[in-house]
Amino acid sequence: MNSAAALATQGLSEITTNTWVNGRHMVRCARVINETHDVKTFCFLAEQPVLFFFKPGQFVTLELEIESQPVMRSYTISSSPSTPYSFSITVKRVPGGLVSNWLHDNIKEGDLLPVHGPVGNFNCIDFPAEKVLLLSGGVGITPVMSMARWFYDTNTDTDMVFIHSARSPVDVVYQGELINMCSRVPNFHLHLICEREALGFPWSGYRGYLDQAKLDMMVPDLHEREVFCCGPEPYMAAVRNLLKANGFNMEQYHEESFGSTPTEVKQDAVEQAEEAEEAMEAFDSDDLITVEFTESGKSIGVMPGETVHTAAANLGMYIPKACGMGICGTCKVKKVSGEVEMNHNGGITDEDVAEGYILSCCSVPKGKVVIEQ
Ligand SMILES: Cc1cc2nc3c(=O)[nH]c(=O)nc-3n(C[C@H](O)[C@H](O)[C@H](O)COP(=O)(O)OP(=O)(O)OC[C@H]3O[C@@H](n4cnc5c(N)ncnc54)[C@H](O)[C@@H]3O)c2cc1C
Ligand code: FES
Repeated sequence: MNSAAALATQGLSEITTNTWVNGRHMVRCARVINETHDVKTFCFLAEQPVLFFFKPGQFVTLELEIESQPVMRSYTISSSPSTPYSFSITVKRVPGGLVSNWLHDNIKEGDLLPVHGPVGNFNCIDFPAEKVLLLSGGVGITPVMSMARWFYDTNTDTDMVFIHSARSPVDVVYQGELINMCSRVPNFHLHLICEREALGFPWSGYRGYLDQAKLDMMVPDLHEREVFCCGPEPYMAAVRNLLKANGFNMEQYHEESFGSTPTEVKQDAVEQAEEAEEAMEAFDSDDLITVEFTESGKSIGVMPGETVHTAAANLGMYIPKACGMGICGTCKVKKVSGEVEMNHNGGITDEDVAEGYILSCCSVPKGKVVIEQ
């Protein structure tokens, strides 16, 4: 009997059914759905009856072993907690990417794997609003799709404008479902923008990029909306610029980065130096804690409470960072000496810790530390 049938047979009573809480959970792949030529959705069930409640927009981190190496990656939960008997993630193949391609090529129905979560501050529950603008580019559609599914399934009055930008018509994820949703309720307004046509797939909808003219047409009441945005960094930077140029109150703006570029890294050397100088002036230099990086030969003083990752970012150094919450393990670095307080959420093994590794995103120096980087 497969997991779905077992679940149905057992029934979901108050006594036998648990609610999903942040932690490590074993889940079994119940279905793999081809969304587009390079995007797949993976649906999971728990081994024990569990109701998958979470805040739409939150993510999980998969714990995998690929070529005998442990590896973790975060993926947004693309399903909605309104369908709590299973949850799904939707993954796009990244050219040359380790995990996304491995998932596409290897994960099949019946496979068991551990996931961590659900976590994430980017969600529509913590920022309730009567009107929302859901903006996405590419696979950044996943968190806003979870939000839209939640609003739709629960029959809320929340007025949704959903604007999705894709490369071409064959790259629009969830197209059929989106069209179905906007054909059934009056509070879901869908706008699809394609950069270009695909051979054999003409496109009569909006063409190009989201710009001022399109924004005016699609969202005349922009200022009344809570905005949730997710997509590649250049897309989100363009959206931020567009909103700022419109005098939009950025407190109503929320975004999720999939983490390829750490937002903390300051690109401009002058900006870095000025900000570091301002910070130094504001604090007694005796309060600053030195973080030294051996390979680059750089060092910097950080304020109490600042992380090793912030120290590196202030120096303009790139340390990969994904979840920023000590879950995914992406920001792991080796500590040569010194003490840190590491508040992680399972993103590092005891063996790694014993070998001197730390997660830079959640490690606060307690005194001078030296990092191998
Ligand atoms: C909160 C959160 C939610 C996310 N949600 C989703 C989601 O819903 N769907 C989704 O598809 N993704 C999501 N992501 C992104 C996902 O976590 C992965 O980053 C993505 O799948 C790529 O992982 P990968 O292992 O395939 O690529 P990686 O192996 O990490 O590689 C990424 C890129 O770096 C390049 N690269 C790798 N190694 C090197 C090297 N040595 N030198 C030069 N270049 C190199 C690769 O070619 C590739 O272009 C999310 C990320 C976060 C943080
Ligand atoms: S970025 Fe995920 S653990 Fe640090």
